Amino acid sequence: MDDIYPYPVARIGLIGGGQLGRMLVKAAKRLGCTCVVLDPLQGSPAGQVAGHQIVGDYSDPAMLRELAESCDIVTFELEDIETETLLALEAEGHRIYPRPQLLATIQDKYRQKQFLRDAGIPTSEFIDMPRPDAAAFARFGYPLVQKARRGGYDGRGVVVMADEGGFANHLPVPGFVERFVEADKELAVLVARNVAGECRVYPTVEMRFHPHDNVLDFLVAPASVSPEVASHAEALAVRTVEAMQGVGVFGIEMFLSTAGELLVNEVAPRTHNSGHHTIEACVTDQFEQHLRAILGLPLGDTRQLIPATMVNLLGEPGYEGRPVIAGLAAVLAIAGVCVHIYGKAVTKPGRKMGHVTVIDDTLEAACEKAQRVKTLIKILGDKQL
Ligand SMILES: Nc1ncnc2c1ncn2[C@@H]1O[C@H](COP(=O)(O)OP(=O)(O)O)[C@@H](O)[C@H]1O
Ligand SMILES: [Mg+2]
Repeated sequence: MDDIYPYPVARIGLIGGGQLGRMLVKAAKRLGCTCVVLDPLQGSPAGQVAGHQIVGDYSDPAMLRELAESCDIVTFELEDIETETLLALEAEGHRIYPRPQLLATIQDKYRQKQFLRDAGIPTSEFIDMPRPDAAAFARFGYPLVQKARRGGYDGRGVVVMADEGGFANHLPVPGFVERFVEADKELAVLVARNVAGECRVYPTVEMRFHPHDNVLDFLVAPASVSPEVASHAEALAVRTVEAMQGVGVFGIEMFLSTAGELLVNEVAPRTHNSGHHTIEACVTDQFEQHLRAILGLPLGDTRQLIPATMVNLLGEPGYEGRPVIAGLAAVLAIAGVCVHIYGKAVTKPGRKMGHVTVIDDTLEAACEKAQRVKTLIKILGDKQL
């Protein structure tokens, strides 16, 4: 009999202890896995749930080795990890998914764009810009978007420039510039691919961004696009992950241009903020799906059973310190509202502190409730700025 598993089913080593890790650990426990988290912050959101944490930097070779040696399989919930050590550990026989080589390609946004272009995946035109230079920006032409090669997330590392005046806000780092896409909508598609190459895709979702900090503000699932656009987006996402031979869950961000064209914006080699609703709205949530994919288990059913919206709970401007949740009871009194608080010890303006998923029989009803949720619940802090 091959279909026999030990208990724990696997010891999962998780690099990064944030909210994505926390939800991954919860799913891992449900499947009978144990988890060890590597994060510099003692009592990280994921570490609290795992119960085992190595306190150390994500990129510290000694810590990464300790993690790999204490687990059966290693995965990560963030991209900015030093890949040299991961490559060496993999070469020694440690199982690490997604593969470190792919992480190295994706974490460098310029290499990621090159990969997409070379694989024939539609993406906006771009050129290398190792040193930002006003004349070179002007030659490429405005409006454009400058992006840092490394370390950007939630809009940090991205500057949109309407015209030459925008150059004043450029990032003084190596990166590239790309065409500004006149987008009708921003879409995201989650794809899971397991070690055997089996692929499953979730229904396309629509992301709406906060005008100030570019954090996902409001998510609508499924996206309000035609069935043709949705299935085209899903096929494009699968093609992208297959081209990458990715193992795990991947979030593929796309633009639907005003001309009706789908362009891949970026690929996240991990579970994604745009897939939180899968916990309540889909048969298999993205976190369990990621574990199934990396553990070589059959992938789960990705069907969405009910319309859903999701709002991030960001630290309210003007507050920091120990989080204080205002309006929790008011939102919990609304049917279909599911609150997730990440257990972060301190809040800061704009920091992701939790999210709320709202499910309802129709998308309109869910959106209406989500709007109410946004006005009712606030993450304050015990210190006013
Ligand atoms: N070429 C582009 N055209 C128009 N808007 C863009 C472009 N690139 C990025 N953006 C906007 O900036 C946001 C953040 O850029 P992204 O590359 O996704 O970086 P991050 O890693 O911070 O998510 C996107 O969600 C989109 O709203
Ligand atoms: Mg993005």
